[in-house]
Amino acid sequence: MTWFLYTLIKASALSWLAWVLLEAARRLFFHPLSSIPGPRLAALTWWYEFYYDAIKPGQYIFKIQDLHKEYGPILRITPDEIHINDVGFLDTVYAPHSVPRNKYEAKLKSLRMPGGVGTTADYKLHKIRRNSLAPFFSKKNILSLEGLIAKKVDQLCGVVEAHAFKGTPANLSDLFFAFSNDVTTNFLFSHQVNVLGDEKSAATLRHNSHNLLQGAHMNRHFPWIPDLMESLPQFITEKRVNKELVTIIEEKSNPVQKNEDHTRKKSVYEAVLDDPNLPDSQKALKRLEEEGSLLVLAGAESPASTLNIIFFHLLSNPNILTTLRAELKNVPSPAGWTELDKLPYLSAVIEEGNRLSFGVATRTSRIAPGPITYTPSHLDTSPTKISKAYIIPGGTPVSISTLSAHTASSVFPDPYNFDPNRWLGEEGRQRRKFQMAFSKGGRKCLGIELARAELCLVVAGLVQRFDMTLWETDVSDVAFQHEFVVAMPKLSSKGVQVLVKSAKE
Ligand code: HEM
Repeated sequence: MTWFLYTLIKASALSWLAWVLLEAARRLFFHPLSSIPGPRLAALTWWYEFYYDAIKPGQYIFKIQDLHKEYGPILRITPDEIHINDVGFLDTVYAPHSVPRNKYEAKLKSLRMPGGVGTTADYKLHKIRRNSLAPFFSKKNILSLEGLIAKKVDQLCGVVEAHAFKGTPANLSDLFFAFSNDVTTNFLFSHQVNVLGDEKSAATLRHNSHNLLQGAHMNRHFPWIPDLMESLPQFITEKRVNKELVTIIEEKSNPVQKNEDHTRKKSVYEAVLDDPNLPDSQKALKRLEEEGSLLVLAGAESPASTLNIIFFHLLSNPNILTTLRAELKNVPSPAGWTELDKLPYLSAVIEEGNRLSFGVATRTSRIAPGPITYTPSHLDTSPTKISKAYIIPGGTPVSISTLSAHTASSVFPDPYNFDPNRWLGEEGRQRRKFQMAFSKGGRKCLGIELARAELCLVVAGLVQRFDMTLWETDVSDVAFQHEFVVAMPKLSSKGVQVLVKSAKE
């Protein structure tokens, strides 16, 4: 018996070893990507990516940029994935004229919410899901709910005012996070939240949300580790979303019990459940819970992150602040979104904030069904030049990270400098096609208009009403240091903190 067991273990170990050797040889020499430049270790195993993503952590995106310097603009970054460092190729990857792209299923696992539109790999299913949400996110609907955002901006100004009165520092990062969480939740659902009403809850929510995102790399590499969603407070998890959803479904299946309160705000779920083109399988509770949770997460994190960048740089660059203030003198205080949206310098400040916040900073790979050819464009900035074209086989995940796109000196000279002027005039207009904060093509952000409204109203509201100075905050509190789906600064950062005076004083 012992002998039999020994032989079995030995045979299994030998077969495993043989498999490892054969698979290593396949990945290095016979794989369709074996001719693509890159470190052999990255071509051989996902542990290379894991080391930089999870152990360093959040560093692979930076390592990739270093590798481009050595290997040129096209790089094999894992056994099956390619990264391109050439903004001339953005449209081919993200906004092709011909066949739509799928997303990379394995990469989407990091958030563990497959029911969300943003985490849907298959382009056909994505289109069905996106179409059911799109009317809710239209500019018309955002305009009709502008009062909801303006009320929150007023509340935000009230909290900042209280700090001015008491002479205590305000943590803008906590307040911006609570603000965008409340706006997104209140915009999407009929239940309303008020995290901004309690600064401690605001700090906790921001902290917990960052913890969730910091677990994303581990989630992807080890899908069996328990879900970090458990650590989130009730208002961001599925529980509250679930309650609202169950009520709406019950009301729909039993119209007699229908809540006849016509003043109640419409929930995004009503739009989705009423969509006749959405198959019943897509109206299942679990799928919609995941959709709702992911929407809140998407809507809370990114606008807050752009606002952090904008306010840090406005307060570090008096000339930029003075120019913005001068422009804002042409509109009333408070001004509406439609008026603010027409101001070129405000718009440029927001573009620059979006650029340096790096939007979704993780690799958002796209997969073409057939082969695509990469030829270096005149915008390629890699010091190592390649002259030949590469054929990327169909089915290969390809990405151009926002770090790569937004720091391409061929389009954004002196890329780490916060310079709104680069977005002005005809040259600025041309540059917008390289703004990847919201991505581009059929998978671009659905919340662009909502985000723009929030950003315009908050920047104008705070700049018109307050004089602020940075408090215990320097560039390391905002600069991109770690990629945890979004761009995060050093892990010890407390965020952007300010001392405030009312602008009229
Ligand atoms: C400054 C603010 C924002 C930025 C920079 C941003 C950025 C992005 C990016 C880059 C994507 C594409 C991700 C990918 O390719 O995988 C995306 C998708 C998405 N965003 Fe935003 N976002 C912002 C605000 C919002 C807001 C306020 C909402 C509202 C809930 C929202 C909802 C979504 C949704 C639903 C998707 C998925 C779209 C799809 O897959 O069709 N975003 N966002």
